Amino acid sequence: MRDIRLDNITAVAASSLAGLPDARQRELMQQLLLHLHAYAKTVKLTHAEWRAALAFLHRTGDISSNTRSEFSLLSDVLGLSSLVDLMASTPDATPGSVLGPFHTVGSPWLGNPANLIAGNAGQPVVLRGRVLGAQGQPLVDASIDFWQNADNGLYWQIDPTQPSDNLRCQLKVDAQGNWEVDTIRARPYQIPTDGPVWHDVVAPAGRSAWRAAHVHLIVSAPGHRTLVTELFDAEDPYLDSDAVFGVREALIGRYQLQTDAAAAARLGLQGEQCLVMHTDIVLSPLPAEP
Ligand code: BEZ
Ligand code: FE
Repeated sequence: MRDIRLDNITAVAASSLAGLPDARQRELMQQLLLHLHAYAKTVKLTHAEWRAALAFLHRTGDISSNTRSEFSLLSDVLGLSSLVDLMASTPDATPGSVLGPFHTVGSPWLGNPANLIAGNAGQPVVLRGRVLGAQGQPLVDASIDFWQNADNGLYWQIDPTQPSDNLRCQLKVDAQGNWEVDTIRARPYQIPTDGPVWHDVVAPAGRSAWRAAHVHLIVSAPGHRTLVTELFDAEDPYLDSDAVFGVREALIGRYQLQTDAAAAARLGLQGEQCLVMHTDIVLSPLPAEP
């Protein structure tokens, strides 16, 4: 095509990708191109704006490394990560929520109840519940990968004072599908504020850097979709302004003061009372093979 014009460039560019051999890859790339062109036409993108956008992407890449992805953060603060999580969620199951940058593969396997308190300041609490299938049946082969931040708000990866396996573990549910993690109450946490995502997008919009306090879980069971999600604290002040749109009503739990001498002892508390948040997690079955 030697006569590229405003009225044919989009179609010509899209059809130039028709040779991509994988049908899904072809759809992803052609739709991306069509939407980018539509965006540029809608906003009447100027040269200066286009150069500024590319410079922003350069800065986003420059600050990224093996241990930090500013592109993930961009996806998070634009709500794209949460949109993908919500599209992958099903109405009959616990909704997904952001993975975030602090998951580490291979956390230590602990018994159930797991106890993560050792060496940590903070308010001792119990997180417990069951892992269930869509019909309410306990999923007795389920496993949970759990991680959270410390009382100073930091995850171990960005706090040299914490050991590398602090406040993270894997555990298996018991024969009734019950799980329990004895831990400290998670604290609100700020997304990184030293990069272009904060300086160029989030701060100028007058938005907050705070993430509502949460713990992370990846819950898996044979025959079921693996769920990446978070549990939030009903008393947290940032539930309505979470910086990455991670909060879902179904993921907000309230700590209740309960009499449970055994749990209180596990938490190292005097007396028989402790704060317990109970959350049942429901997994969807894997779709049937075609
Ligand atoms: C977090 O879960 O801690 C997190 C998620 C997204 C961006 C930054 C932090
Ligand atoms: Fe987190």
